[in-house]
Amino acid sequence: MPFWPNIYAGKTLITHGETGVSKTDRETVEQVCAWYGHRADALIEILHDVQRAHACVSDEAARTIAASLNISRAEIQGVRSFYADFSTAPRAERRIRLCRAEACQAVGADQLAAELDRAGTPHEAVYCLGNCALGPAALIGERLVGRATPDRLAAASAGSGDDD
Ligand code: FES
Repeated sequence: MPFWPNIYAGKTLITHGETGVSKTDRETVEQVCAWYGHRADALIEILHDVQRAHACVSDEAARTIAASLNISRAEIQGVRSFYADFSTAPRAERRIRLCRAEACQAVGADQLAAELDRAGTPHEAVYCLGNCALGPAALIGERLVGRATPDRLAAASAGSGDDD
C-alpha cells in the first residue's frame, strides 16, 4: 500500500516556491522514505508517492530522497527522467497524454498530435494506454479518452463528454 493516501487524504499540499519543496514538504518526503524503510529498491514507489503528493519530484525532493536512501542523486535522476510519469515541476492537472504507439498511430494519433500542435494545445507522448481498440487514445488527468479528437479532448478537459 502506498504511503500517500494515509497522510494526504483531504489535504492540499502543493505549496511549491521557486526554490523547491518547503520544510514541511521535505519532512513529508522523509516520512515517505521512512514508510518504505529507507530501501533503495523502493525508489520507484517513493517517487510515485512524492509525485502524487506534490505533483512533481523536485530537485530538492530528489536530494532529500538521495540522502534518505543513501544513493546518489544521479540514480534518482536516471529513474526520474526515464519515466514520463515523473516531472521536476508541478504539471497542469489536466495535461493531455496522447498515445503514440503503433495501434494508435494506425488510426490517426500522429495527425491528432499535429492538430493539437497547430491549435497550441500542449500534450505529451505516451506509449500504449491499454486502450488500443479505441484509438487514438489519450489520458487527461486520470480520465481515459478513446477515439480521441480535438473536440473530444476539449470536452474531456472541461469535464464533460463520454468516456471510452
Ligand atoms: S497503442 Fe494506443 S492505447 Fe495501445
